Amino acid sequence: MRRPLVVGNWKMNGSRLGSVELSGSIAKNFSAGDRCIDCAVCPPDVFLADVAATLANSGVGLGAQNVSQYEEGAYTGDVSASMLAEFGCTYVLVGHSERRTCFGESSQQAAAKFVAAQGKGLIPILCVGETLAERQAGRAFEVVAEQLDAVVEAAGLSALVEAVVAYEPVWAIGTGEVASPVQAQEVMTFIRARLGEKAGAMRLLYGGSVSVENAAQLFEQRDIDGALVGGASLHPEQFMTICQMAEA
Ligand code: PGA
Repeated sequence: MRRPLVVGNWKMNGSRLGSVELSGSIAKNFSAGDRCIDCAVCPPDVFLADVAATLANSGVGLGAQNVSQYEEGAYTGDVSASMLAEFGCTYVLVGHSERRTCFGESSQQAAAKFVAAQGKGLIPILCVGETLAERQAGRAFEVVAEQLDAVVEAAGLSALVEAVVAYEPVWAIGTGEVASPVQAQEVMTFIRARLGEKAGAMRLLYGGSVSVENAAQLFEQRDIDGALVGGASLHPEQFMTICQMAEA
């Protein structure tokens, strides 16, 4: 049995006070019930300390949205895996499509970040997914395979299956256009098959316009173990509802 995981990606949103209020509200609600899921939020780095303090003993995990591929040194603007670990992070997103698209990160860079994160005990959440043009050209599987293979090459298959993979079709991120449960399941099946038997216990998340309207149907799919939630994770009631749906 794979334990569901729901992760909120706050992206570059909010304020210091707002992040404390948002995480406080999630913490309060999450600790209320008996939990059979894992839940985490990924605030901007500058809010990590405040959010960590707010989440203490709540059972809600903390993650970062990005990590340096380097350990330390002259890398202006970067934040290392050991720094994130020191601030209480359990998870870190790696290779999010916005990093790939807006900041030109390659699959090899994402793989190097994956290795750096895992080396410091963080659980990488490797984001993979195709653009609309790639899907229309019938290349969705090929693109996802290339993104996975880069990590397998750098970190090894065993390391990848110990982490979390989030399938996020780029055309569904922030657009309100969610992949159909069948489309999402198709790619999940492909990912598990590509990684082989060892991937049976690996958690696979879906991401891209997940909302209270569509989450339940997505979670019904055999290979979807949870969600990476952007926009809806900024609204505590919506995020908690999605967590409850994952638990159900
Ligand atoms: P979205 O973002 O839910 O706002 O589409 C998801 C993500 O980027 O992880």
